[in-house]
Amino acid sequence: MKRRNFFSLFGLSWLTSLFPIALSSCSSQKGEPSAASSNTPPTPKTSVRPDGYMSVGSVETLDRTGFLAVKISDKSAIVLRDSVRPNSLRAVNLTCTHAGCLVDWESKDKVFTCPCHDSQFSSDGKVRQGPALKPLQTYLAKLEGNTIFVNVNS
Ligand code: FES
Repeated sequence: MKRRNFFSLFGLSWLTSLFPIALSSCSSQKGEPSAASSNTPPTPKTSVRPDGYMSVGSVETLDRTGFLAVKISDKSAIVLRDSVRPNSLRAVNLTCTHAGCLVDWESKDKVFTCPCHDSQFSSDGKVRQGPALKPLQTYLAKLEGNTIFVNVNS
């Protein structure tokens, strides 16, 4: 190898070895999100399928606790088994229809109670006691294997 070719090759190798250092100095400091990641919305934990259903959890959790707490379009809800037909599932929005407080699920009495003005709703969301006049919003829910799906469009 000629001396000139040796130094050309050596110089090229030296330059390419500096490339990662140059790149890292252009990126943000350690621990700070890069501009690309700060502009990227967080990846949703669940996604809605084209049929409107989204996966919300496992049947094991539902059966262990008697209900499954979920978020549907940023609203708190729980999935319950139908008391008459246990293989049927239903999701119930916990927002009281009177003035928007969050209702509590009383599993022993199988009733939703509102801590604000004492409205009560049955497990299917129907009004049992006012002042609320409208039922709690419900959503279709179903099992596929061991996974619970809720229809966010229902
Ligand atoms: S907000 Fe629930 S009864 Fe008034």
